[in-house]
Amino acid sequence: MEKAYAPYSGFAVGAAILDEKGNIHSGANIENAAYPQGCCAEASAISVLIMAGGRQIRKIAVAGRGELLCTPCGGCRQKIREFGAADTQIVICDEAGPRQTFTLDALLPYSFGPDNLDNLSE
Ligand code: THU
Repeated sequence: MEKAYAPYSGFAVGAAILDEKGNIHSGANIENAAYPQGCCAEASAISVLIMAGGRQIRKIAVAGRGELLCTPCGGCRQKIREFGAADTQIVICDEAGPRQTFTLDALLPYSFGPDNLDNLSE
């Protein structure tokens, strides 16, 4: 959250991914004057994961302030899906620490993923 670049919303978000090798990759939201070009913290952490050679999200922490839980946006749920599994844990945090944990399947049921593009018989 401290590294966030969020001058427009003022809403800082941090994310940290635990990968299949036990390594942790962190990210923060990076906003843009052209608003839709901004990047969520989860997407930023996924870029770091991939560039470090990781390929699987075992667990991801997302941290943001406020009374409501800082749950991943819809687009980020799908991005997590690409490198996650049904039982991937999504740990929602605030500046004080963890608040609630969900599985990816709970936040994105009946998801479309890489498996949907396999086993296509002609
Ligand atoms: N944001 C994230 O980084 N992750 C989320 O899952 C929800 C929203 C960011 C995007 C934007 O920079 C700010 O929070 C306000 O929407």
